[in-house]
Amino acid sequence: MITLRRAADLRACCDDARRAGRTVALVPTMGLFHDGHRSLMRAARADADLVVVSLFVNPTQFGPDEDLDGYPRDPDGDTAVAAAEGVDVVFLPPVDELYPDEPRTIVHVAGLTARLCGASRPTHFDGVATIVTKLFSIVGPCRAYFGRKDAQQLAVIRRVVEDLNLPVDVVGCPLVREPDGLARSSRNAYLTPDERAAATVLWRALSAAAGAIRTGERDAAILEALVVSTIGAEPGVRLDYAELVDAHTIEPAARVDGDLILAVAAFIGRTRLIDNLAITAIGAEVDIDLGVVAEEQTA
Ligand code: PAF
Repeated sequence: MITLRRAADLRACCDDARRAGRTVALVPTMGLFHDGHRSLMRAARADADLVVVSLFVNPTQFGPDEDLDGYPRDPDGDTAVAAAEGVDVVFLPPVDELYPDEPRTIVHVAGLTARLCGASRPTHFDGVATIVTKLFSIVGPCRAYFGRKDAQQLAVIRRVVEDLNLPVDVVGCPLVREPDGLARSSRNAYLTPDERAAATVLWRALSAAAGAIRTGERDAAILEALVVSTIGAEPGVRLDYAELVDAHTIEPAARVDGDLILAVAAFIGRTRLIDNLAITAIGAEVDIDLGVVAEEQTA
């Protein structure tokens, strides 16, 4: 495995691979790897000849009052995890390599970014869409892997690729959960033991909604109210949103019908966590994707 810090070197490495007939996979990350990241690397490793993992805490996707400075970082530990997962290249650029000065060009996806996380983090998705477009441009034609925990992010990135005709195949990978159901997130590292216990309420609320859907409930307002009341009953947890939305447009859905996301975000103390159920409902057939429980525990 090699570590590259310059965009030109990464581009040359990916160009060489393609010239030699090798396929390229990109796993964009902000580091502090957990089983969710590992599962993306494994999917990429299974699919492609050259696997690139980018490790960059992207400043433009953090709001002025958010946790950019305190965002947990462990580049040495992450590099070791990437090597163990058979990654070929870790791209670890300094901030001024990707943002030598204030960027004047922003990738903005209208509509999809207005609701859910976009409502409480108004500049977040511009930062995500811009950095991901830059990474796609540096790496070139490839398959790129993203977790379905960030369901709105996935919809935004798919739309960027579609609207800008980018030669990238976007692969959504399963949400990975701890054995007690908490969705794996780098931000779980912020939680105190009490907050960590309270945080499972997101999973409990979504499980309650999944149970209601399985027994025939189709009304979005009733499902959302169930999630709101379950989360509201947990001391120290403050709901940000609970909404049933179309998985592609992120527009509100009135009923369980089509490709949907039941998305939640809540503050556990000062830490904001997100989670979701992916629901596909065609007529009477309903498939609910709760994600997968991690096989192994890594700190
Ligand atoms: O999901 C993340 O870790 C980030 O939003 C991403 C896609 C790497 C862009 O910085």
